[in-house]
Amino acid sequence: MRSISILAGLAVALVLPVWAQGLPRDAAVNAAAPNKTLEPRVVTNSGRLEWLPHAHNLTPWPTLSHEDRRPAPKPRKARLAGPLDGDAGRGRDIAVRPDKGYCIVCHQIPGEEWPGTVGLDLRGFKQRQYADAAVYQQIFDARVNNAQTVMPPFGTNNILSEQEIRDLVVFLQSLE
Ligand code: HEC
Repeated sequence: MRSISILAGLAVALVLPVWAQGLPRDAAVNAAAPNKTLEPRVVTNSGRLEWLPHAHNLTPWPTLSHEDRRPAPKPRKARLAGPLDGDAGRGRDIAVRPDKGYCIVCHQIPGEEWPGTVGLDLRGFKQRQYADAAVYQQIFDARVNNAQTVMPPFGTNNILSEQEIRDLVVFLQSLE
């Protein structure tokens, strides 16, 4: 068994182009567009998955895999200037949308079912009484607080705009 998987690994390494060889072995890669990964879709009643090109460019999202050694931008300190000026409704939208923050894959927020549990539960966030600037920094680039964090650096990697992060801060600070 072992030698078979080594041989299979070798065959994959020989077939894959150079850009793909830096990726973890289990990463699904779309050869036609290397910056867009593939997403699985169940083929009904077949027991199979088919892989479709992901519409969204995932380049700014780190894979969170220890095997992914592609260079990442350095952690960045963020400065929250002026009044917060955000919108809680937009913030909630950003927190649940897969093509925006998608915070619910890791965090629980009120009113959302099937949250992820990798990150802290954000229900009742207001009671933690963090300064707005600290929450802004955590979302902008969590690596400033924890170098080993799995939370993506939403600001540094341009996944979210400054305004979108402000909307999230207002939303989180409103959670009773
Ligand atoms: C891949 C998982 C993941 C995603 C996605 C993620 N986070 Fe986190 N987050 C974490 C983890 C884990 C922590 C705990 C601190 C650490 O390990 O760095 C955390 C901590 C936090 C904290 C600090 C909470 C506290 O009480 O100290 C805030 C605020 C936060 N995240 C907000 C967000 C927001 C807003 C989003 C979406 C834009 C988001 N997170 C997306 C994993 C994630």
